[in-house]
Amino acid sequence: MTDPVPFDIFLVSVPGLEAVLAEEARAAGFADARPLAGGVGFAGTWVDVWRANVELRGATRVLARIASFRALHLAQLDKRARKLPWASFLRPDVPVHVEASCKRSRIYHDGAAAERVARAIAEELGAPIAEDAGLRVMVRIENDLATISLDTSGESLHKRGFKQAVARAPMRETMAALFLRQLGFDGSQAVIDPMCGSGTFVVEAAEIAAGLKPGRARSFAFELLPGFDRQAFDHLRAPDAVTEPGLRFFGFDRDPGAVRMAEDNAARAGVGGFTRFENCDVADLTPPDTGPGLVVVNPPYGARIGNKAPLASLYRTLGATLKTRFAGWRVGIVATDGNLVRATGLGLEAAGPPVLHGGLRVMLWAASL
Ligand SMILES: C[S@@+](CC[C@H](N)C(=O)[O-])C[C@H]1O[C@@H](n2cnc3c(N)ncnc32)[C@H](O)[C@@H]1O
Repeated sequence: MTDPVPFDIFLVSVPGLEAVLAEEARAAGFADARPLAGGVGFAGTWVDVWRANVELRGATRVLARIASFRALHLAQLDKRARKLPWASFLRPDVPVHVEASCKRSRIYHDGAAAERVARAIAEELGAPIAEDAGLRVMVRIENDLATISLDTSGESLHKRGFKQAVARAPMRETMAALFLRQLGFDGSQAVIDPMCGSGTFVVEAAEIAAGLKPGRARSFAFELLPGFDRQAFDHLRAPDAVTEPGLRFFGFDRDPGAVRMAEDNAARAGVGGFTRFENCDVADLTPPDTGPGLVVVNPPYGARIGNKAPLASLYRTLGATLKTRFAGWRVGIVATDGNLVRATGLGLEAAGPPVLHGGLRVMLWAASL
């Protein structure tokens, strides 16, 4: 796992946010990171794989490409898969799960393709194949070209490992981080979420400001790969000096249960000292004395929770509060319905393409007040 020869690394992205994730990856020092369909590609080494998993806030998972070859039929897939040096990629004592997807190819049966590769691994290396394995081999066959990758993350990277309490319709941490970046948040501004639910935006912003690595506490699938160097990894993951950003990250919600959850989540993430959550209806919200910063909010969408009719009035109230009391702030609203967004009367404009999330097309809308 310490082979310095670069290979293809693919960061899976929430569809629609590839360009923002590429920007984050370049800013993190992955200089040739470029947006592709569904993610971001760059060449790197295993240490880059570790670092991408630990440091990038917007990646959903990190895939390491281990092989690529033509496969016109299942027997050929089987034969070529058997020839791969599996012992340099996987351990014989660690169970793996194999998944396949076929597109525009003569091999069209996902299940059959996965089964051939799984059998090759089981028979050539001796690793157990198990549905619930912590390590996943991904086979993608497109235009008769088979690409084999390892999912080096394991559980989706939006699971930072701190959020136990979840409100209704929570925002994923990865999306929250990319929306914050799209709004120009660089860690220096104050941030308010007037409908914070479990507090995702606020905690994410506070972590960014404090210089906390998103993967500082969770485990990763790459820890199960051969030659994984625990000591070198611990060194790479060691905390940078934490910046004390001061109290400038605030969440409000009219649901007292959500406020308690957000407080607990912030405390577990180690940002309780510079976040504050309060029970407040958006109609009564006033700005903190931090000076203008960023308001970021995803109000109820209507598609998943509640009914649309009363929502127009909620969006109007949000708009009126921000317009009258938040002059000088920048606002970003994540929503699914352009009509509701217009009901705010804030002159919000789309800040990026639609983002597919949980079967919904959500969009970030932004304006300076
Ligand atoms: C879609 S959820 C936000 C989820 C949040 N971003 C998270 O990550 O958990 C919308 C939130 O708006 C809150 N809400 C609805 N009406 C409100 C109002 N009038 N004032 C304040 N909060 C309100 C709800 O209680 C809910 O927590």
